Amino acid sequence: MEEEMNFTKLFAAGSIGSCRLKNRIIMPLFPTKYATDSRVNPKMLEFYRTRAKGGVGLIVLDCPCLDYPRAYKGPQELRFDLDDYAAGLTELVETIHAEGSKAFMHLNYPHEKTVMEKITGATKKKDAWVVPLANFMSPKDAENIITIMADGAAKARTIGYDGVEIQASYGDLIAQLLSPLLNKRSDDMGGTIENRARFLTRLIQTVKATAGRDFPVMVKLVCDEFVPGGLCIDESQKIAGLAEAAGADAIVANAGNKTTKHVTIPPNESPPGPLIDLAAQIKTAVNIPVVAIGKINDPKLAEAVLAQEKADFVAMARALVADPDLPQKAASGLLENIRRCNYCLQDCAEKGVPGIGRCCGVNPFAGNEYSWKIFPAQEKKKVLVIGGGPSGVQAAIVANRKGHNVELWEQHELGGQARLSFIAPFKEDTADILRYLKKSLDDSTVQIRCGRPTDVSEILSRAPDVVIVATGSRPGFPSIPGIDSEWVTDVRSVYENRSVSGQKIVIVGGGDIGCETADWLAKPEIQVTVVEILPQVLHRMKKIPKERLLRRLSAKGVTIFTETEVSAIEKNLVRLKKKDGQMFTVKADKVILAINAVPENNLVEALKGKIKQVIAVGDAASPGNLGSALRSGTAAALNI
Ligand SMILES: Cc1cc2nc3c(=O)[nH]c(=O)nc-3n(C[C@H](O)[C@H](O)[C@H](O)COP(=O)(O)OP(=O)(O)OC[C@H]3O[C@@H](n4cnc5c(N)ncnc54)[C@H](O)[C@@H]3O)c2cc1C
Ligand SMILES: Cc1cc2nc3c(=O)[nH]c(=O)nc-3n(C[C@H](O)[C@H](O)[C@H](O)COP(=O)(O)O)c2cc1C
Ligand code: SF4
Repeated sequence: MEEEMNFTKLFAAGSIGSCRLKNRIIMPLFPTKYATDSRVNPKMLEFYRTRAKGGVGLIVLDCPCLDYPRAYKGPQELRFDLDDYAAGLTELVETIHAEGSKAFMHLNYPHEKTVMEKITGATKKKDAWVVPLANFMSPKDAENIITIMADGAAKARTIGYDGVEIQASYGDLIAQLLSPLLNKRSDDMGGTIENRARFLTRLIQTVKATAGRDFPVMVKLVCDEFVPGGLCIDESQKIAGLAEAAGADAIVANAGNKTTKHVTIPPNESPPGPLIDLAAQIKTAVNIPVVAIGKINDPKLAEAVLAQEKADFVAMARALVADPDLPQKAASGLLENIRRCNYCLQDCAEKGVPGIGRCCGVNPFAGNEYSWKIFPAQEKKKVLVIGGGPSGVQAAIVANRKGHNVELWEQHELGGQARLSFIAPFKEDTADILRYLKKSLDDSTVQIRCGRPTDVSEILSRAPDVVIVATGSRPGFPSIPGIDSEWVTDVRSVYENRSVSGQKIVIVGGGDIGCETADWLAKPEIQVTVVEILPQVLHRMKKIPKERLLRRLSAKGVTIFTETEVSAIEKNLVRLKKKDGQMFTVKADKVILAINAVPENNLVEALKGKIKQVIAVGDAASPGNLGSALRSGTAAALNI
C-alpha cells in the first residue's frame, strides 16, 4: 500500500522504441475537434499545453488529413499538406515538448468510400452511399493507402512528432480488416489471421522504411470486438505478435468496434479498468511495451496495473480532460486534490456543448484554457455568493483565488442538487465533484455560512460590492388538473427522501433525470411508466450512455410513451393524450414530476440597483447541468 502511494512504477521513466517518456502515463487520442480552417488555434494549443504541463508523459494527437483533398473531412480536421498548416502542428508539438511531454501523431485513414449508387454492401450516409473500404479496396488501392499513411508518418517526423500511433481499433479501416466478422475479402488480405493482419504488418514495415527504423510506432489494437463471431483475444494475441515482428514498438490494448463503442469508451455503467485484463493477456504474447486503456482515473489503480505487470503504461483520456494536473497531483501525493472524471460522457462527447465544443462536466476550464486564466484582481472586492450548489461554490472558489474577500451563504447544506445527482444506478462517481468542491473550499479562505436562509435586507446590511446569485432552480409544476393531489410529487423530493411509495409509478418527463429515476425505481414488483411529450426520451443525453440506459429500462420493463402529454391526474389514474389526439389512461398510485425546472432568481430583481454588481449563475440564470453550472460560476467570478 505504502509503495502504491509512492507511485514508484507510475512515475518511473519508460520507453516506446527510441522515445523516452518521463513516466508511464499516456493521454490517448481525444479528438478535440477544435481546429478552425484545418489549423491549430490557440484553443487547441492551450488545451494540450495544459495537459502537458500537468505532467502526462505522452500525448497522442489527432491524425491530420493524410490525403487532401480526396479524404478530407472538413475544416475541423487538421491539414499538414502545406507548410503553413504544418507550421501550426510544429508549434503544437514544440509547446508539448516545452512542458516536458512527448507527442505522437495518430495515423489513420477513413474507413469508408463514397459510391455513386446503391450497390450490395452500401449504406446510406446523409445524401451519399458509402461502402467499407476494407472490403471494397483493390490490392492496388491498399498499397496506395499504405504509401500515403507511411508518407504521413515521415511527414510527422519532419514536423517534430516523437512517433506515430497506428489506428487498428475503433472499428476503423485496419480494425475491420483484422475482424473475422467484418473482413469479407477472399484475396491475401482476407481469411487467415496472417492475411487479415497483412495490411497492418505491411503498414508498420513501410512506416519504418519511410520514416526511419528508429521512429517509434505504437499500434492501437482491437483485442476483442465484444461481438459474437468478432475478433477475440486468442487471435489478437497472434496479431500483436505479428505487429511486433513487423517492427511495432508498443501495443495499446484497445477493444470494441463501431457497434460496441461502450466497450471502447466505457460509460459510468462500466466497472473501472474493464480492459486491463486484455492488456495483461497481450503482454504474455509480446516483448514490446503494452498500454492498458479504458476508464483508469485512479492513480492507485494505474500503479497496481503496472506493479502487477499487467501493462507497461496506462492511458487516460477523460481523466486528463477532467483534471489535466492529475499526474502532478499524484506525484505530489495530493490525491484528494484530483478532480475525477465521473464517466458521464456528456459535455466531452460527440459535438460537446453548443458554443464550446468538447468540454467537461466537472472541469469548467476544459476547452476554455485559452481564454480563462485566473489573475489576481486589480481591485479586491467584497463578494457575497448566495447559494452553495455547484455554481455558487465554484464562483466562490474562483473569486477567492483572484484575491477577493468572499463569503458564501447557503440556506441548507452545501451541494444543492449535486447532493441528489449520484443516487440513481451507476452514478456513484458523480458524487466526486461535490467532494472535490468541498475540498477546494476547505483549501480556500472563503467564509462559509450554512443552515440559515437569508433575505434582501440582510444581504444589503453586509454591503457587498458584488452579489452572485447562485440560488439554483425549483421544480416546475405545470397546470394540469389534479397536479396538486397528494399522490403527485416532484422528483427532487423523491431523491431527498431516498424512496417513494407505490407499485405503479408514472414519471412525467423523459429527460435525463426522469429516465434515470425510472432506472432507479423500477423493480419486478414496481411498474414504472415514463411519459414524454417530445418524439424521443433522453434527447439531450449522448449516444453511448443513452443506449445503455434505454437498454436497462427495457430490461426492467419500464413503459415509455413519447409524443404524449398528461391531460389529467386522478386517484390511481393518469389521463394521457397522444400527439394525434388519442386519449388513454394508465394506472398510477404515484406520479413523479421530472420536468423542466424554473430558475430561482427572485434575488436578482430585488437587489438590482441596490448593489453595484449582481450576477445570476448556474440554474438561477438558466437551468442546466453540472457542467453549465460550473462554467457559469467560473465565468462570473473571472469577470469580477
Ligand atoms: C436528481 C438529480 C440528478 C442530477 N444529475 C445530474 C447529472 O448526472 N449530471 C449533471 O450534470 N447534472 C445533474 N443534475 C443537475 C445539477 O445537479 C444541477 O444543474 C446543478 O446542481 C445546478 O447547480 P446550481 O449551483 O446552479 O444550483 P443548485 O444545485 O440548485 O444549488 C442552489 C443552492 O442554492 C441554495 N439556495 C437557494 N436559495 C437560497 C437562499 N435564498 N439563500 C441561501 N441559499 C439558497 C439552495 O439550497 C441550493 O443549495 C441533477 C439534478 C438532480 C435534481
Ligand atoms: C469524445 C471522445 C472521442 C474519442 N474519439 C476517438 C477516436 O476518434 N479514435 C480513437 O481511437 N479513440 C477515440 N476515443 C477513445 C479514447 O482514445 C480512449 O480509448 C477512451 O476514451 C478510453 O479511455 P478513457 O477511459 O481514459 O477515456 C475517444 C474518446 C472520447 C471520450
Ligand atoms: S464530460 Fe464527463 S465523461 Fe467527459 S471528461 Fe468530463 S466528467 Fe469525464
